[in-house]
Amino acid sequence: MKISKTSNSRIQTTDFTNLKFGTVFSDHMLICKYSDGKWGSSEILPYGPIPVNPGMQVLHYGQAIFEGMKAFKNEDDKVLLFRKEENFKRFNKSSIRLSIPEIPEDIFMNGLDNLISLDSDWCKNKEGYSLYIRPFVFASGECIKASSSEEFTFIIITSPTTTYYAGEVNVVIEEEYTRSTLGGVGFAKAAGNYAASFYPTKQANLKGFTQLIWTDAKEHKYIEESGTMNIWFRIGDKLITPSLSDSILGGITRDSIVSLAESNGIEVQQRRILITEIVEAYNKGTLKEAFGTGTAVTVNPIKSITFRENKMELENQEDSFALKLKTELQGIQKGSIVDTYNWTSIVS
Ligand code: COI
Repeated sequence: MKISKTSNSRIQTTDFTNLKFGTVFSDHMLICKYSDGKWGSSEILPYGPIPVNPGMQVLHYGQAIFEGMKAFKNEDDKVLLFRKEENFKRFNKSSIRLSIPEIPEDIFMNGLDNLISLDSDWCKNKEGYSLYIRPFVFASGECIKASSSEEFTFIIITSPTTTYYAGEVNVVIEEEYTRSTLGGVGFAKAAGNYAASFYPTKQANLKGFTQLIWTDAKEHKYIEESGTMNIWFRIGDKLITPSLSDSILGGITRDSIVSLAESNGIEVQQRRILITEIVEAYNKGTLKEAFGTGTAVTVNPIKSITFRENKMELENQEDSFALKLKTELQGIQKGSIVDTYNWTSIVS
């Protein structure tokens, strides 16, 4: 792999005490291109602008997918990557649905290892810090016929980060707009899924909500996700989360929380969840917690859920499941709790 190091690192001038999610990028990026039916060799070069031409297919038809993953620095200053095999699998699952050629495992894995070890100083061994990693691929062929591109560009960039949401998360149940539908691309990390969510989210933001709770496309009766997070409810002492379908993203954090909860003896139910069930539980006093999970947020408590005119405020729980599971997950990610699941791998 060709590696061209920057002669002008930005690390000394970066304010690590004030990282706004997704706005600061490490010194290098990895690029690999696909043409003539095959992936070429990867290259690491200084983070910076890439050539774009106006006829590039992604600009017209949105043929693009991405992943979100995280690395953490442990007490010995080693960088730990969390569940990279799962991100790799999901990357290609998304690619297949978007008619993008799958990326070979060695390009993805060696690319991550080389890039992250080169920029490992951007990953801080400090409480709450991680390196958010964004592998993505897009149609880079120059052709405006509405058809799958014959050229693609795979890139990995990384971004030092702390928290995603700065304050409380207050959500509203959406009954008009839809994030995804059966047979659609909701299970994939398709760029367009996020683009389509921005307008409804903005309407909710204008009304003072942090995010939406997406409901099923057919009847708007069942709960699917919240913003870019999988959603969880604690009713009594059970945790429930919507079962996966092709309209719900199979979160790697979601999967990790299922395992951690179950090994803590917490019953987890993965099934369809009616909005009315949540309202009834709240009215009966059995809805104790709600939270979202995702790579970017890890585990984020939800402070209130608004359904039509009713705002359901959730009190802080002394024995909060969200907090317990978050602490355990973060401990494994940072290497301070023994990883009996084999989820972490050291970047060489
Ligand atoms: C993630 O949690 O990695 C996501 O995909 C959220 C992202 C859109 C910021």
